[in-house]
Amino acid sequence: PKLTDPNAHQGVQIKSPISDYLATVVSQNSKDNPGANAAYIPELAAVNSDQIGACVTTVDGYVYGAGDIDVEFSIQSVSKPFVYALAIEEHGLAWVLDRVDVEPSGEAFNELSLDGKQLPKNPMINAGAMTTHSLIGEGTMTVEQRFEHIRKGLSKFAGRDLGVDEGSYSSELATAYRNFSIAYMLKNYGAIKVEPADVVKGYTRQCAIQLTASDLSSMGATLANGGKQPVTGEQVVSPETVRQVLSVMTTCGMYNEAGHWVCEVGFPAKSGVSGCVVGVLPGNIGMATFSPRLDEAGNSVRGTRMYKQIAKEMVLHMM
Ligand code: DON
Repeated sequence: PKLTDPNAHQGVQIKSPISDYLATVVSQNSKDNPGANAAYIPELAAVNSDQIGACVTTVDGYVYGAGDIDVEFSIQSVSKPFVYALAIEEHGLAWVLDRVDVEPSGEAFNELSLDGKQLPKNPMINAGAMTTHSLIGEGTMTVEQRFEHIRKGLSKFAGRDLGVDEGSYSSELATAYRNFSIAYMLKNYGAIKVEPADVVKGYTRQCAIQLTASDLSSMGATLANGGKQPVTGEQVVSPETVRQVLSVMTTCGMYNEAGHWVCEVGFPAKSGVSGCVVGVLPGNIGMATFSPRLDEAGNSVRGTRMYKQIAKEMVLHMM
């Protein structure tokens, strides 16, 4: 279906049969609220778990949404594919492939999951994402410059300047024992060259970048649009980079649920422990859902349910 409404304004949420449809989906999925907020990050455990929203942005920049799509949350793991894109733009794909592999781990997102060459198995799990973070300006940038490059890069995908949720950053960092352990193991195996503590701090700050479901659907639309932000018109990354990023999102974006996701939803997506999920239908739309309670794999329960429902009802599966 063609989602564009001729009366719409780019970058502004509009009311239409599509937003009415999304409102129905949000309302149908609001009736119960299974799962639990991420417990290992104190700030996320305290978020209002009743919030729920769904948003779609077309490759020509029209925004349709329902529910809590203007509420800010921390991006968490959804930053990973976008930082992977920035690393490929900076170093080229072959160089990055020598540092982070692209095989699904089949394990939880916070396992070490190294391959036979002691490389992290993919850039979507924490080990691979911390390594990818460290590749930005490796040998050339300070810790501060690396973070700022990432914050500005993600802002370009969103089409607006994104800030940091300082509460989320400090509360996660104070309890990030597991990521510190993984980073020191990565350093031990030579996977990262930057100081492990600096990598954890920078990566945790990257995960605390703050945005709304509306911003996130715009970021997805930039990927759907071959790397060109639909509203600002900026070519943020190349179409070749997008192809790599979406391939890895397809196989690894939903962690140990990735197989079921591809079978049932049928297009690439990435989840974050704040309860957000970004989805990309190449050449068509970016999509975002937000609902804080998670399943065992760390994916939003109602977000996953909404994606499955929308993919089925709107016939969006790639097959
Ligand atoms: O590193 C962490 O554990 C978090 N900052 C991000 C993990 C995450 O979002 C996993 N997603 N479902």
